[in-house]
Amino acid sequence: MLHYREQVLHMESVPLDEIVRHIGTPVYVYSLNELSRRVRAYREAFPDALIAYACKANANRVLLAHLTHLGCGADVVSAGELRAALSAGIPPRRVVFNGNAKTDEELRLAIQVGVRVINIDAREEIVRVAAAARDLGRQVTVALRVNPGLAVTTHPHLQVGAMGSHFGIPPEDVLPSVAEVMRESHLRFWGLHFHVGSQLTSRQDLTMIAQLAAEWVHRVREAGYPVEGVNLGGGLGIGYDGADTPSPQDVAAWWEATLAPLNLSLILEPGRWLVAPVGVLLVRVVQVKRTWGRTVVAVDGGMNVLLRPALYGARHRIWPLREGEPVRAVDVVGPICESADVLGRDCPLPPLKNGDILAILDAGAYGRSMASTYNGRPLPPEVVVDGTTWYVSPSGNG
Ligand code: LLP
Repeated sequence: MLHYREQVLHMESVPLDEIVRHIGTPVYVYSLNELSRRVRAYREAFPDALIAYACKANANRVLLAHLTHLGCGADVVSAGELRAALSAGIPPRRVVFNGNAKTDEELRLAIQVGVRVINIDAREEIVRVAAAARDLGRQVTVALRVNPGLAVTTHPHLQVGAMGSHFGIPPEDVLPSVAEVMRESHLRFWGLHFHVGSQLTSRQDLTMIAQLAAEWVHRVREAGYPVEGVNLGGGLGIGYDGADTPSPQDVAAWWEATLAPLNLSLILEPGRWLVAPVGVLLVRVVQVKRTWGRTVVAVDGGMNVLLRPALYGARHRIWPLREGEPVRAVDVVGPICESADVLGRDCPLPPLKNGDILAILDAGAYGRSMASTYNGRPLPPEVVVDGTTWYVSPSGNG
């Protein structure tokens, strides 16, 4: 997808310097072909599941429309994401509504448009969802998000199903919550939802998710309640350093023996795996300086356009737009007045001068969607590459 031709970095057959010449920097660039490949891989691995793409990863309108076209639904966590999904053409029956702080207005909107399922995050939320459904004279399908108390191997900010986490329903409240849902005539109990963390690459963690889900399904069924399906969330990670990591096919194979006998329908909510490698962020070198014995390359987009390195210590590969021998390890920093605004330390790069362009890889997920206008800087534009052509795309936020 990304390659050098005549020493210039290309996405598909588009030289990225052409986009920079027309659009400027910082700019996000996404490959539709790569998105298609990744969605197909997921759908082939899980042919019977609803792939409810986690819009929070990237709510770009063209990407959302393309995902719909390829058969995906959406996992949304706010009225804003719900509207973005619907206006990109995602049918409400393919939308899953998540969130630990859904407002009454958001619940009503979700019920009105007819989302497929609302994932209830707290025992205390049950009465609110039921009241919203009753007011609207509707019955709504719900799942309960279980916090199984599983600490997965990832950055602490990205663990959301560990003991003490504020997400989901703690183990002791699961069965009483199912009972409460069953008593509400405006709620239809569909099943259980699990999402324990993000950027997961260990086989053990990924396998555990299905095992815990299966245990919970048994418990709920043994208590006499019907469980139609499970939603196993998102979380599949990618190799930010370029290393191979488990594929959806691997995960499907690991889950097969556990899930198949349970006869459940399956919903998945992948975000990162589908879109991270689809996007690059292009930034321009503004100043190269020697300081304290180091070479520091300051570029025109930092934590305001890509927060991941500052927030999670994430290391994205940084490649020059013009190929050259990496001769030294330099620090690449953004323009924001914060010491955290470092995009990469000790990055192997060729000698750089003001005006040179750098590409930050795997920026398609949680890049533009987490960008801010901090320090009075505009949100970056987004460009979609479709084979040999490219165009500026309306953005998902801002
Ligand atoms: N489902 C639920 C309920 C979630 O909370 C998330 C992500 C997903 C699905 C999608 O997870 P994924 O497949 O993308 O791992 N900003 C962070 C990631 C935060 C993820 C939050 N929840 C980052 O840049 O790494």
